[in-house]
Amino acid sequence: MSRLVIVSNRVAVPDESRPGGLAVALQAALEETGGLWFGWSGRIDPEESGRVRTQTARGIEYVTLDLSEQDHAHYYNGFANRTLWPLLHFRVDLVDYSRETYAGYLRVNQLFADTLAPLLREDDIVWIHDYHLIPLGLLLRERGIKCKLGFFLHVPMPSSDLLAALPNHARLFEGLSSYDLVGFQTERDLERFQDYVRLYGRGRVLAYGVLETEHSRRLRAGAFPISIDTARIAKLAADAVGKASVRRLSDSLSGRQLAIGVDRLDYSKGIPERFRAYGDYLERHRDQRGRLTYLQIAPVSRGEVVEYQTLRHELERLTGHINGTYADADWTPMRYVNRNYPHASLSGFFRLARVGLVTPLRDGMNLVAKEFVAAQDPHNPGVLLLSAFAGAARELDGALIVNPYDTQGVSDALATAVDMPLAERQARWNSMMQRLQSHDITAWRRTFLNALRDSDLDSVDS
Ligand code: G6P
Repeated sequence: MSRLVIVSNRVAVPDESRPGGLAVALQAALEETGGLWFGWSGRIDPEESGRVRTQTARGIEYVTLDLSEQDHAHYYNGFANRTLWPLLHFRVDLVDYSRETYAGYLRVNQLFADTLAPLLREDDIVWIHDYHLIPLGLLLRERGIKCKLGFFLHVPMPSSDLLAALPNHARLFEGLSSYDLVGFQTERDLERFQDYVRLYGRGRVLAYGVLETEHSRRLRAGAFPISIDTARIAKLAADAVGKASVRRLSDSLSGRQLAIGVDRLDYSKGIPERFRAYGDYLERHRDQRGRLTYLQIAPVSRGEVVEYQTLRHELERLTGHINGTYADADWTPMRYVNRNYPHASLSGFFRLARVGLVTPLRDGMNLVAKEFVAAQDPHNPGVLLLSAFAGAARELDGALIVNPYDTQGVSDALATAVDMPLAERQARWNSMMQRLQSHDITAWRRTFLNALRDSDLDSVDS
């Protein structure tokens, strides 16, 4: 069997305390077959990029690169997270483009290609992840790499007119045609990509998921909704009941219900909108006042980027306002925490909660929504409030689907969730849990990798 090589900006090297969501999702793929994981070391070198670090653990070889301060600023804080991230989340208003950061993005992708190319074997299967590394496939091909190359976009693919707002968009997205398979989270993302190829990429859609670009290069594209390790989360949550952190939270509620939100502190997650909806809920559903405590866990993310700093200030102001307005001497309506918790504690918190609030303005998938469901107690499950604009809404049909821009709609859904009878909660939870059991993280990666292995296009007629 071919060796699997995974490439992503963040690598869950053993002992790293804070791997991103993507990194956690990929660990298991390599543990199964062994292989190589390549990416950024998470370290900044004050002088120059390129120091290589290598280690092996549990049959996986990790090769990572340090980045210089300037490369990190231009590639990660700059083009990846101030240009592409807002653009791909439909926030053209927040896009900050400069030739300088774009050059830094290309420079780091070139460094990745130069370092990775000599490590690759002819029959490797290479799987590249996310918006940080869109050009990498093309750069590897330019260095003579012939093996199968797959790319998966974890974030949304916006409509083609939005993409076209990016200077150099054609050059950047043309690079996708050097992959054998390009994966998206949902069918809608795939459809929007096909539209882009037709309207702006001067390419053709030969059949659903089979594209031909201007230079007659063919590629396959498909929807592969990412998932979670359902059985593991369910077990973690059941086992967490006795954990000190979970017991302390439970005791502190004094018999009140818990609503929980867990998000990286990111404007795409719709956290201020959710806070305002909670304020509206307290205002208009007076009968429920004092029955529920809302815990929002929001670890700081990309804290050097100005839009994230502004968001943090706004959330601090809103929390103070809501608590100041509605708290009583013996009850605080919301708790807002910027720290991160271990997975086991989070699963236990989810299991305690009557309501899970997952209301992003845009999200590729949102694995918190899926973890919330998997963590529930089958005998007394909580209710998921889920944004229609998260990829997960296409699968989790038992959730209360909300529009995060509709403050009163979210507030009313919260009131419905608080009073929802057990039988309805169970029926909704059962249908979601069945889906997560059949489509877990293992099914996701196998489906993608099988499609990549079989991505031979000779048989497709034009
Ligand atoms: C999203 C992205 C991932 C990223 C994660 C954490 O899920 O799709 O690529 O790793 O956020 O963000 P960070 O900037 O901390 O890696």
